[in-house]
Amino acid sequence: MPEGTAVSRMFAGIAGRYDLANHLLSGGIDFHWRNRLAAKVRAHAPNNLVDLATGSGDVAFKLREKLGPNVEIQGLDFCEPMLDQARRKRDEVASYEGINFDFGDCMALPLPEASVDAVTIAFGVRNFEDRHQGLEQILRVLRPGGRLFILEFSQPDNWFRPFYYVYLKAILPRLAAFTTGDKGAYDYLAGSIEEFPSKDTLTEQILQAGFASVEATGLTASIVAIHEAVKAP
Ligand SMILES: C[S@@+](CC[C@H](N)C(=O)[O-])C[C@H]1O[C@@H](n2cnc3c(N)ncnc32)[C@H](O)[C@@H]1O
Repeated sequence: MPEGTAVSRMFAGIAGRYDLANHLLSGGIDFHWRNRLAAKVRAHAPNNLVDLATGSGDVAFKLREKLGPNVEIQGLDFCEPMLDQARRKRDEVASYEGINFDFGDCMALPLPEASVDAVTIAFGVRNFEDRHQGLEQILRVLRPGGRLFILEFSQPDNWFRPFYYVYLKAILPRLAAFTTGDKGAYDYLAGSIEEFPSKDTLTEQILQAGFASVEATGLTASIVAIHEAVKAP
């Protein structure tokens, strides 16, 4: 697992070009993935929610669009330059007013026990220094019956793997170097995706952290998956 300070430093280096790289490298399909995540959250009508590893805030904004202004939304991240991007985008759009973006490390969440109806985290769990500790922290801050929604890369369906890994290892780091000027960060991305567990293994790890149930949904030939986990009522 990568060291937290190294991860934070890496994202600080690409913060200004993160959104552009994201949309370009995913061919724009990241919009669809965030939409699916937000639709799943909306089905449970939370009163408050926290978006962890919020980065430049795109999940928090999508949640505001789908859930409306009455749901309290807070984004947390441990990389200030990424949070600055989120705050700048929030301040440009009137309907995003009231979304708070604050410093917070998922290894020690600055939130009271049982205080949150729903937690989202997109493309963050993969970077945790200690995945079990992060999942336990999320369980602690969720209310009984509360839900965790993880959007993360997964292991793609067998038929798609050869194409995907050629893209991931040969094309993506070069495209990323062109977009962000930091090939190293995207070599790391390719490696961390390759090592990340399958849907079944991540489900098992979430249950081991103490969640009562987990449902996994693969998207786009399971390039990514949404894991929806419930804290016991
Ligand atoms: C790939 S970006 C994802 C950003 C955003 N969720 C999205 O979907 O575009 C990963 C983010 O996770 C943050 N991050 C990684 N580990 C973290 C931790 N332990 N605590 C807080 N933030 C973390 C990084 O700083 C970075 O902003």
